[in-house]
Amino acid sequence: MARPLVADIDLDALRHNYALARGLAGDSQALAVIKADAYGHGAVACARALESLPEGERPPAFAVACLEEAEALRLGGIESPIVLLEGIFEAAELARVEALGLWMAVHSEWQLQALLEHRPARPIPVWVKVDSGMHRLGFAPEQVESVWQRLAAVPEYATGLQLMSHFATADAVDAGYFETQLERMRDLAQRLKAPLCLANSPATLAWPQSHGSWVRPGVMLYGSDPLERPSEASRRLQPVMTLRSEIIALRDLAEGEPVGYAGRWRAPRPSRIAVVACGYGDGYDRHAVDGTPVLVAGRCTAIAGKVSMDMLTVDVTDIPEARIGSEVILWGRSRHGAVLSVDEVARHCDTISYTLLTGVLPRVPRRYHGMADPGTLVMNRT
Ligand SMILES: Cc1ncc(COP(=O)(O)O)c(C=O)c1O
Repeated sequence: MARPLVADIDLDALRHNYALARGLAGDSQALAVIKADAYGHGAVACARALESLPEGERPPAFAVACLEEAEALRLGGIESPIVLLEGIFEAAELARVEALGLWMAVHSEWQLQALLEHRPARPIPVWVKVDSGMHRLGFAPEQVESVWQRLAAVPEYATGLQLMSHFATADAVDAGYFETQLERMRDLAQRLKAPLCLANSPATLAWPQSHGSWVRPGVMLYGSDPLERPSEASRRLQPVMTLRSEIIALRDLAEGEPVGYAGRWRAPRPSRIAVVACGYGDGYDRHAVDGTPVLVAGRCTAIAGKVSMDMLTVDVTDIPEARIGSEVILWGRSRHGAVLSVDEVARHCDTISYTLLTGVLPRVPRRYHGMADPGTLVMNRT
């Protein structure tokens, strides 16, 4: 029997979450952010699942971080528009941007120069990225008018021009800084009569006043709730990835016996420990503390001892039905119906869902479910 660790990807849940985002977006268009291999879920499979939705229900565009990610999607047969959220990394990429029919952000002077010198044979929709307060990428607000006018003077860029910016604190309950950023962008949009794309997942979920002409949800599509305080809408998100394994060994330990490296966990009573096929060599976070939740045979229990490269250990003293071969859910949905959110696991690892999801390593096979085509697509990515 093969090693039992697998990442099950529920494409119906992905579509459900996208429909939720689209519904929240109202009159705004909702692109789907599928960078970083769709946050670890497999970009081509996710894009196909979304692109095959009926007209009017599918994303009008996808977004990725770089040209290589867009090329992989085109190779995978994805024909929808794709936005490069960071634009190009060198001027030579512009020829490929044009050939592949991509859209791109422009965030700095050298990119702008490259665009102005390129003179494309067909339109390239360009999204002018503004640093409204994140202080990561983008033109300062006072530079934007001139950038906009220089691009608007080129017919091939003038048609698809748009302003974009990124929020630093849209997930927080305190709206102070979010509103400062939003105000700066509204001012610019009004002056330039420009369409706006601002909202990431938390803003899509919680700040309708920021929706503009496009929203740009990412992590919510995969079922993670980015909000500091969950909302009625965010509670309707469904987990897309289930990281599933099995018990491969059981140990009965006397009170006081240590488990794993450095003996971090010691049995507080006579205990039964299950060894699970999943470790940091698969991308499971080594910072998981004792007490990090795990589902065994549909019941919630906890990590006991440090995570190893290929294994981790779980206290199953109170789960007498646990056997070798019992289902173990590291996050996602159990066959028994229980759900363990990746957000909750992330809190126990002092991290965020984004790192856990993008961190699942290629040696974990992705197994896709829920596509309209019959059968299950198994992709082993090692
Ligand atoms: C520019 C940009 N837009 C949108 C997103 C999507 O953000 P989220 O996953 O929080 O929805 C990201 C994610 O990092 C981003 O960098």
